[in-house]
Amino acid sequence: MEQTFAIIKPDAFAAGNAGKILARIYEEGFTVKGLKKLYLSKVEAEGFYYVHKSKPFFDELTEFMSSGPCIVMVLEAEGAIAQWRTLMGATDPEKAEEGTLRRQFGTYVGENATHGSDAPETAAFEIGYFFSGLELL
Ligand code: RTP
Ligand code: MG
Repeated sequence: MEQTFAIIKPDAFAAGNAGKILARIYEEGFTVKGLKKLYLSKVEAEGFYYVHKSKPFFDELTEFMSSGPCIVMVLEAEGAIAQWRTLMGATDPEKAEEGTLRRQFGTYVGENATHGSDAPETAAFEIGYFFSGLELL
């Protein structure tokens, strides 16, 4: 079993889509190992997305991620990292396939409803950034 880290981003949370996204997560067979609602500060969002610090969209991204509450989760499944990325779809909702979460709930590339870890090392960092071992029992 593999674990990945996922976020229902502030746009999807504010639009009232968290319940629908969670329903999809269960339908697709993930086990929700950890889940909490947070309202990130700018500094917390910057720490989370530090790999993108030099990118032109870093400020917009971290402003958005700290613009309202979100839900952070640890999801478990066989091949969870790839499976969750597939369910989310492409970064740009316009390029995401029909039936994916970003296609259904995303607005544009900067506000795309969900986040998912992209590799085992990033999943380990991201899970540890938000959850203690006791919260994942
Ligand atoms: P995420 O980390 O949020 O799951 O998204 P991702 O892996 O699909 O995409 P990534 O390259 O890691 O980019 C992180 C977030 O930055 C925003 N972005 N904006 N304006 C742009 O060209 C641009 N490129 C990326 C997106 O909101 C993306 O989710
Ligand atoms: Mg990414």
